[in-house]
Amino acid sequence: MSDNQVRGVILAGGSGTRLFPLTKVTNKHLLPVGQKPMIFHPIEKMVDAGIEDIMVITGTNHMGDVVGLLGSGKDYNCRFTYRVQDEAGGIAQALDLAKDFCMGHKFVVILGDNIFEESLVPFIEAFKLQNRGARLLLKDVHDPERYGVATLEGKKIVKIVEKPVKPESSMAVTGIYMLDTLAFEFIKNCKPSGRGELEISDVNDAYVKAGLCEYDTFESWWTDAGTHESLKVANELVMGANPT
Ligand code: DAU
Repeated sequence: MSDNQVRGVILAGGSGTRLFPLTKVTNKHLLPVGQKPMIFHPIEKMVDAGIEDIMVITGTNHMGDVVGLLGSGKDYNCRFTYRVQDEAGGIAQALDLAKDFCMGHKFVVILGDNIFEESLVPFIEAFKLQNRGARLLLKDVHDPERYGVATLEGKKIVKIVEKPVKPESSMAVTGIYMLDTLAFEFIKNCKPSGRGELEISDVNDAYVKAGLCEYDTFESWWTDAGTHESLKVANELVMGANPT
């Protein structure tokens, strides 16, 4: 194994309040999507793309169950490292816990509730060719106000805003982020948002402002699974009941 391999980070913390009471006694990412726990989907996407070292970050309440499910990674052809996020202080706060793990590497972050069809291989290959900076994956959606939204000018992203009331485009920033260690410098400058969280959109927008943000778009289906409605959609998509 070469030492400059792309590493993986799966964020599986948060409080899962939008899925209550399903998440009263378990972690959102352990709920079923298709015939597997939700978290298997991002893990499989990473392993299929050749990522061997994956950090899983989750909260204190369900770390035991997550470790019990995933173990060392030998059953999944990867190695897991675990870190605890004490409180759900936001995606950027969770990512900061992966700083030492990611040092010296490019890395791919997947939000543990993001479910999608396409292989990450071509996107990661393009990312590897970049000298530096970020590479995001966008998806044209009908409800952009639920997401981080990218404003495009020609082939460039010029702005990223988290859950804008009046979105400037329909291009959602999906929860798959290909980043370099500059991300940790940008996280240092993040301030809590209106919802009291350190937002990944602020990190991504810092890459944009630095002229270091590339992107690709998903052409096939992508969804999160963080609400009752989107969890249902994720199950239908994975089971092939409603392919788009
Ligand atoms: O799904 C894509 C969207 O995910 C992006 O477009 C948004 O820019 C991004 O902020 C995020 O929006 P959500 O409001 O859907 O994020 P949510 O709070 O549901 O968190 C998504 C995942 O991130 C969750 O499954 C676990 C992880 N997470 C979240 C928080 C707040 C953590 O690991 N720790 C946290 O503190």
